[in-house]
Amino acid sequence: MLSAPLVGQQPTDDGPRFTNGLNLRFPAEYRSWTFLASGLGMTYEPNGQQPRLPYFSNVFVNPSAYRHFEQTGAWPDKTVLVLEVRVSASEGSINKGGFYQVARAGIEAHVKDQRIASGWAFYSFADGKDTAVPMTGEAVKRCVECHAEHAAVDTTFVQFYPTLLDIARAKKTLKQGF
Ligand code: HEC
Repeated sequence: MLSAPLVGQQPTDDGPRFTNGLNLRFPAEYRSWTFLASGLGMTYEPNGQQPRLPYFSNVFVNPSAYRHFEQTGAWPDKTVLVLEVRVSASEGSINKGGFYQVARAGIEAHVKDQRIASGWAFYSFADGKDTAVPMTGEAVKRCVECHAEHAAVDTTFVQFYPTLLDIARAKKTLKQGF
């Protein structure tokens, strides 16, 4: 007998979908995934120039990986983290100060994948792109370096995701120095 899926049931097959084995299909449903944090105008240079309207960076993760992190403080293989960059605006509608989010300016993914030497693959999706190849060579060098050197758990920036930071502290999975 066939049983209909329960309404509201969380899918467990919410991981990466590949074409040709390694090319990542754009996870179009990422906006219904688990929200981790929004950075506002984050820069990484000592005298980083701040534009008048800072960018927001919104981070999402597939729900089954989030549940695994809640239980263990670590990411399972095939975790998909999405970084969505949005332009900000101010003084529109009734708003008199502060910033709110408008158009999407960029979208990248970070996928835990045992098949990759560094353990994780990076992908960049231009708007409208349906699949992306894993970034390689010079293009990915600075991504790998900064994430490997400065991220608090594995190669992910848990120090900037407040709910995960508490979990990683409790599970003692923070790297030394955090
Ligand atoms: C100088 C350091 C630095 C470099 C270089 C860098 N990142 Fe990140 N990345 C961060 C920080 C800090 C965050 C935390 C979230 C934020 O910015 O709001 C982050 C978060 C992310 C996330 C969200 C999930 C996570 O891993 O924590 C993705 C996806 C991502 N970066 C992709 C990239 C890609 C692709 C590149 C290379 C084109 C790159 N990053 C280069 C510092 C860096």
